[in-house]
Amino acid sequence: MHSSRWLIATICFTCTFAADELLPFVFQPLPLGSVKPEGWLRDQMQLMSDGLAGHEHDFYQFVADSSWLGGDQEYSSLNEGFPYWFNGIVPLAYGLDDARLKGQVTDAVDYLLAHQADDGWIGPETTVQTRNFWARYPLFLGLIQLAEANATESARVVPALHKFMTLMHSMLADNYAGYTPHDGDVFDASWGQVRSHDMIITLQWLYENHPENNSQVLLDNMNYINEKAYDWAYWFSNDVFITADLDTVPIDLTTRMFPYEHGVSAGQGLKAGAVVRRFTNNDTLLQSTRDGVNWTFTYHGAASGTIIADERLAGLSPLRGSELCTAVETMYSMSYLYQAIGDNDFADKSELAAFNALPVMMTPDWWAHQYMAEPNQTKPYSLNLTESPFWNVNTVGQTFGLEPNYPCCTVNHPQGYPKFLSASIVKVGDIGLGHALLSPASAYVTLANSNDVFVNCSTNYPFENVLQYTIRANSAFDFYVRVPGWYVDKDSSISVNGGKSGPLAPDPSTGMHKLSLDGGDSTVTYTLGVGIVVEQRANDTVAVRYGSLLYAVDVTESVQILPPTDYGSQQTLASKYVTPQTHDYRINGTSPWAVAIDPSTLRYTSKSSNTSTAINPLPNPIFTSGAPPGSITVSACSIEWGYFKGVPANPPLKGNRNCTGDVFEVKMIPYGAAKLHMAELPVTSLDVASSESEFFDQHQY
Ligand SMILES: *[C@@H]1O[C@H](CO)[C@@H](O)[C@H](O)[C@H]1NC(C)=O
Ligand SMILES: *[C@@H]1O[C@H](CO)[C@@H](O)[C@H](O)[C@H]1NC(C)=O
Ligand SMILES: *[C@@H]1O[C@H](CO)[C@@H](O)[C@H](O)[C@H]1NC(C)=O
Ligand SMILES: *[C@@H]1O[C@H](CO)[C@@H](O)[C@H](O)[C@H]1NC(C)=O
Ligand SMILES: *[C@@H]1O[C@H](CO)[C@@H](O)[C@H](O)[C@H]1NC(C)=O
Ligand SMILES: *[C@@H]1O[C@H](CO)[C@@H](O)[C@H](O)[C@H]1NC(C)=O
Ligand SMILES: *[C@@H]1O[C@H](CO)[C@@H](O)[C@H](O)[C@H]1NC(C)=O
Ligand SMILES: *[C@@H]1O[C@H](CO)[C@@H](O)[C@H](O)[C@H]1NC(C)=O
Ligand SMILES: *[C@@H]1O[C@H](CO)[C@@H](O)[C@H](O)[C@H]1NC(C)=O
Ligand SMILES: *[C@@H]1O[C@H](CO)[C@@H](O)[C@H](O)[C@H]1NC(C)=O
Ligand SMILES: *[C@@H]1O[C@H](CO)[C@@H](O)[C@H](O)[C@H]1NC(C)=O
Repeated sequence: MHSSRWLIATICFTCTFAADELLPFVFQPLPLGSVKPEGWLRDQMQLMSDGLAGHEHDFYQFVADSSWLGGDQEYSSLNEGFPYWFNGIVPLAYGLDDARLKGQVTDAVDYLLAHQADDGWIGPETTVQTRNFWARYPLFLGLIQLAEANATESARVVPALHKFMTLMHSMLADNYAGYTPHDGDVFDASWGQVRSHDMIITLQWLYENHPENNSQVLLDNMNYINEKAYDWAYWFSNDVFITADLDTVPIDLTTRMFPYEHGVSAGQGLKAGAVVRRFTNNDTLLQSTRDGVNWTFTYHGAASGTIIADERLAGLSPLRGSELCTAVETMYSMSYLYQAIGDNDFADKSELAAFNALPVMMTPDWWAHQYMAEPNQTKPYSLNLTESPFWNVNTVGQTFGLEPNYPCCTVNHPQGYPKFLSASIVKVGDIGLGHALLSPASAYVTLANSNDVFVNCSTNYPFENVLQYTIRANSAFDFYVRVPGWYVDKDSSISVNGGKSGPLAPDPSTGMHKLSLDGGDSTVTYTLGVGIVVEQRANDTVAVRYGSLLYAVDVTESVQILPPTDYGSQQTLASKYVTPQTHDYRINGTSPWAVAIDPSTLRYTSKSSNTSTAINPLPNPIFTSGAPPGSITVSACSIEWGYFKGVPANPPLKGNRNCTGDVFEVKMIPYGAAKLHMAELPVTSLDVASSESEFFDQHQY
């Protein structure tokens, strides 16, 4: 039993709730399948289907031969590989309406439900001591998405979930069996307790959509789970949250702090307070959630929108890394928080991770990924390092491959864009619809009073900043577009049905700009003004953004292709677990990277005309050097800079940045397209005016 003071029970069974309803979302999610990708986002999701995500069910050992499907391949006793994959493949299959992937989903559910134990347990565990709820969190998130998208599937999934929840109730009532550690258990309980909110989401979904006659059991389970959960409000409190470089803080497993410090859990935990608040009505959790987001990004955030943790939170040093799973969990948490609480900043952060942190870690064809990325990733990245500068990542974790390090990111990355898509359009009250996460998408939605609405957003956002909407509705309704916090007011406008352009008037809290549209056909043209934003980073370095894209120095690549290796032995994988498309890659940088820049010389240029509002198709794939239309140039010079364990060391401090040669112009491109990149750059002041005419001729590249 826990009696630790770190585990604060926040719930009492005697608490009374104002109503038997959960606290509503500020913006209600639409059922999976309502929103379809368009434009570049469809291209990316199709690449996912054609790439690793869409083929793991055919060949990847921890899915195809998973113990969940009758095989015997698991990368740990948590049996989480198949559940992670399932949570991503369901929204990919139904987002794209991809018959082949839907077939994989149906086959998997056929097997799962045919093997549900008589007492209700779902999963391969056969003894009480091996029954751990944790892996069911991502599995059930997949199942509830499926039930939203497909009524036939719902008819069998919902009863199976209720049967499980009734078993769960008796287990939790029996001294929290399957949840907190007991003598003889063969599993590590902490993941289940620190990620508890991911199970509560499923309980709440059943409670609101399919309570059957089981509401009390569902509520009790929420309470039981929360009672013994790791309390994120505790971690997000002054005096507890670690703002220092964690290298200076000992890992004290006895205080049970590590689960909060683990990068993937840190991404997941951002939303915990908002989930719990829905059934406790405890508004203290609002401030604690806002503080948690603020502090996590202020003290451990990367400019790309992810959390720096390799695998433990690491502070702000750009030579430290972030897991791919952390990027997708952070995107999901921030989109959930925007729906639950409505702060505009949460949606900005979800977009930032989606457009930068996620794509930079995938090869353009979506067949290979990095386990770990760093803000400064260049020569001799991404190679097999001689030693690891990371806390718990091997020497090839920052190379691209099938499973360069632990396989969790091989199976967990597919949820990224599909969940982002389904959260991108939301209901606003009963009669409104809002574009929350900006990206090309369309949706069919029935609002109150049988108002069928179709919205189609054609846009190259975030690569360009015009959004064109085609809308059809039975009757009048309110349409909202979200205005990102960074917008430049004077260059922004919105117009309806080709009429006069007006200024944006975003709600100060949610960022939503409201339009009241008539029934019938409408068009909306929404133009976002954008400027270069220079973000101050540690030690007089800067990150450069244009809109929601981070820009990085494009380092020329030399690529070596190798057969895929096993993450543990680092030997070539057995041929039955690979396909002709699976490779490992080593990438060496071949152009200057050790540069300091003068931010006063930053200039944005785009290949496309800025006078037209036409949405011309973007290249596919888009996240590769040369594809995105925008680039930024800046004056720079080479500086003396050393290595630490084979990677660019921490910055030469101000005063140690003397140019070792002439000033030249450096090209920066969107970070997601620059697999080798420098994104946190030392600043220096260059006397550009006097030398400009010469050096532009001589040093352009
Ligand atoms: C729903 O799932 C069933 C299998 O249970 C499948 O036959 C059907 O095609 C699916 N429907 C849609 C709309 O995808
Ligand atoms: C719920 O209980 C009522 C009354 O006992 C019964 O009529 C109804 O069929 C039950 N509904 C479900 C979905 O089990
Ligand atoms: C509300 O949540 C905070 C933070 O977890 C906790 O300290 C407080 O006890 C909770 N209040 C109630 C009434 O449960
Ligand atoms: C974020 O946290 C920092 C450090 O505690 C604080 O100075 C700042 O005001 C906070 N910002 C917001 C928006 O709460
Ligand atoms: C800042 O520079 C100092 C001195 O090189 C270094 O110890 C520290 O880790 C750096 N901080 C970050 C966040 O990079
Ligand atoms: C949305 O608009 C684009 C661009 O006009 C078009 O190609 C696409 O087919 C439309 N989507 C739907 C679902 O009508
Ligand atoms: C990386 O290099 C080490 C030797 O430094 C070697 O043992 C290991 O097999 C290599 N890993 C891969 C995947 O090539
Ligand atoms: C990487 O490229 C540099 C030249 O830019 C070369 O000196 C070095 O040997 C290369 N490293 C590998 C591992 O290929
Ligand atoms: C469009 O481009 C022209 C020429 O590059 C520039 O002068 C103008 O400011 C740009 N307008 C906008 C709105 O970006
Ligand atoms: C990133 O790498 C550059 C080398 O161009 C180095 O000067 C800079 O200090 C690094 N950034 C940080 C904050 O370590
Ligand atoms: C940088 O240049 C200044 C002026 O020439 C000189 O005084 C200083 O010693 C140089 N610093 C380094 C680290 O070389």
